[in-house]
Amino acid sequence: MSPLGRKIAARIEQDGPMRLDTFMALCLTDPEHGYYTTHTDPIGLQGDFVTGPEISQMFGELMGLSLASCWAEQGTPNGAILAELGPGRGTLMSDVLRAASKVPGFRDAVSVHFVEASPRLRAEQARKVPDATWHDTPDSLPDGPLFLLANEFFDALPIRQFVRTGGSWRERVISRDASGGLVPDLADPAPVRALAWRLADTAEGDIVELCEPALEITAMLGARIATAGGAALIVDYGGWRSYGDTVQAMSRHEYVDVFSAPGQIDLTAHVDFEALARAAVPARHSRMETQGVFLERLGVTQRAQALAARAEGEAREAIVTQHHRLTHPDEMGQLFKVLGLFPEGASPPPGLEP
Ligand SMILES: C[S@@+](CC[C@H](N)C(=O)[O-])C[C@H]1O[C@@H](n2cnc3c(N)ncnc32)[C@H](O)[C@@H]1O
Repeated sequence: MSPLGRKIAARIEQDGPMRLDTFMALCLTDPEHGYYTTHTDPIGLQGDFVTGPEISQMFGELMGLSLASCWAEQGTPNGAILAELGPGRGTLMSDVLRAASKVPGFRDAVSVHFVEASPRLRAEQARKVPDATWHDTPDSLPDGPLFLLANEFFDALPIRQFVRTGGSWRERVISRDASGGLVPDLADPAPVRALAWRLADTAEGDIVELCEPALEITAMLGARIATAGGAALIVDYGGWRSYGDTVQAMSRHEYVDVFSAPGQIDLTAHVDFEALARAAVPARHSRMETQGVFLERLGVTQRAQALAARAEGEAREAIVTQHHRLTHPDEMGQLFKVLGLFPEGASPPPGLEP
């Protein structure tokens, strides 16, 4: 077992079964052994997974133009905050800034803010965007109209899981087996206030997930955007309304057992976009769109053609492949979704229909 696995097993021995959100939080951000705290370079071909901005510059460029046009539509406010949650290697923001700087006045009107848990990734982000300011949590983002990006951030937040049992729920927890290994278990049935409404659309034995940190963050973002203006583009894998067990572990681009190596593998869960949209009220939300359609509406095909026209041989082939990976339904185009948040009276970010 990994060192963090032993630490978790010892804690279960002492305190009893552990909730899944506690387990996920330890696996991802334990200060000593957490995946994001210890891995030098989890993202990219040499790491464990690849993200949209790491596939192609087109991803960030189009998101940047979408956000910058929200800024222009809302009257080109000065002192605006351009923020990213979980900026990874800083690639997305550097592509966003390059493209959005073509919108007159945008670059001078915004200051860049990153919310990042990993000290190692912070150092990498500083190389790409040296004038950014870093924050531990979104609460400390400064006041002002807030233009925010989050790509594959919400999937990394710890979730709880519940199994429907009659009129109440049994929480899925983690226990130790006879040999000290970690095994899934169920807590006693209890009512869960936040899931009371899900009794209407679930049946005995169904699993529902709840990501409390995501709801808190989105509630704060929604309140800010509704009052100070701005917009948010949230991109992630998931769907509209949580249903079933979606926790997954990834190592070296392969799915692996969730309990196999705590702290050494990436753990995520699908994002429930309906829950985010509900939490963001009084901000308005767009329809949830697939990444493929979102990027197509923003002109990804024309952008790919323009880039390909300037490239030759393998470089040109690579652009075709990147376009396919970002947009095709069998790749990221269908699984990944985009949700926009915006204030009353504003339009949804371009690429998202009202
Ligand atoms: C899957 S990566 C996505 C990186 C980047 N957005 C991209 O698209 O390449 C998740 C990012 O969120 C950060 N992160 C994960 N959990 C976090 C937390 N609780 N608070 C702040 N940052 C977090 C990670 O360190 C990493 O930068």
